[in-house]
Amino acid sequence: AGPELTDLHGRRFEYLRLSLTDVCNFRCSYCLPDGYRKTKGAPTHLSVDEIRRLVGGFATLGLWKIRLTGGEPTLRTEFLEIAKAVSGIEGIRQIAITTNGYRLEARAQHYADHGISAINISMDSLKPEKFHAITGHDRLAEILSGIDACKAAGIASIKLNSVLLKGLNDDELDDFIAFVVEHDLTLRFIEVMRTNDNPGYFIEHHLPGSFVSDRLKSSGWLRQSRQAGAGPAIEYANPTGPGRIGIIAPYSKDFCASCNRLRVSATGKLHLCLFGDGGVDLKPWLQDDAQKEELIARLQKLVAGKAPAHLLHQGNSGATPHLASIGG
Ligand code: GTP
Ligand code: 5AD
Ligand code: SF4
Repeated sequence: AGPELTDLHGRRFEYLRLSLTDVCNFRCSYCLPDGYRKTKGAPTHLSVDEIRRLVGGFATLGLWKIRLTGGEPTLRTEFLEIAKAVSGIEGIRQIAITTNGYRLEARAQHYADHGISAINISMDSLKPEKFHAITGHDRLAEILSGIDACKAAGIASIKLNSVLLKGLNDDELDDFIAFVVEHDLTLRFIEVMRTNDNPGYFIEHHLPGSFVSDRLKSSGWLRQSRQAGAGPAIEYANPTGPGRIGIIAPYSKDFCASCNRLRVSATGKLHLCLFGDGGVDLKPWLQDDAQKEELIARLQKLVAGKAPAHLLHQGNSGATPHLASIGG
């Protein structure tokens, strides 16, 4: 085996979340309630060549799964070109994307044709009016047909993400469960996380993941043991048929112990955690193919110093204004 990326807390990293843009066209109430605003003089996003060098460096260190995220990653004009370039890098075995589902029905086949084999789609409500109220867009029908298009395109892994919101979608739990069973899908409920932009919203709408797990257990759903290399979601399987439900509960004890991921922002900053410091700029090491050894050495050194856990329990979001800023 070649060199690896590990930290001083025994965690090994094989999964990179690469943000392609912080721009988003939705206005999710917990994330960008007023929509995306460009900061004047903000640094530009990584070019396709810089991305190729970056992922090449990570792949040499044993990373095999890349998630393209955002903002809304599919808004990058070179989105398909990037997916194709990254999927061709030696050692990369899976290209996943996280999307809000924008134009998914028309694009699913293109995604599959450009090497994307896993897709996570945000879907916070099954009621059109509520979906509109939460995301600022009346696009639920488009997402539902997009899910079918992903299946038809042969995308191997399709997961739905629903942010669990007290007073907004907590009355839909049974509907979500029925949906997952009917469509043989995996849906993860995500506890809303406090960011620097949403402290009041967080207090009003946060619900613990136990709200979901209590219901699942009482209906006989079976908690699955964690697979080696799996992320922090705790998954439950339907005892009587298809469907899986996961819970992402960052406020639970030991959430960070199984952390298997690193993040690079759209502008090329390495973030060791979703909630932490402002990131370290990698761009200077991405300017020439000949810098690969230097890049690798730098990555190993930086990752070794990853903190054991995030700061959320202290009510501290670190330098994270909202999740679109560093790719969720
Ligand atoms: P898989 O690769 O399919 O397991 O998905 P994933 O959970 O890694 O990816 P996705 O983009 O669907 O993530 C869903 C959401 O989970 C993220 O946007 C975050 O809200 C949350 N999440 C993922 N990773 C972390 C993490 O390291 N820390 C915290 N606090 N939340 C995370
Ligand atoms: N808390 C929890 N989830 C969030 N997301 C965005 N912001 C937050 C937040 N503050 C979710 C999106 C999407 C995923 C990438 O992250 O809804 O499903
Ligand atoms: Fe956009 Fe995702 Fe934030 Fe919603 S949660 S505003 S889709 S980046």
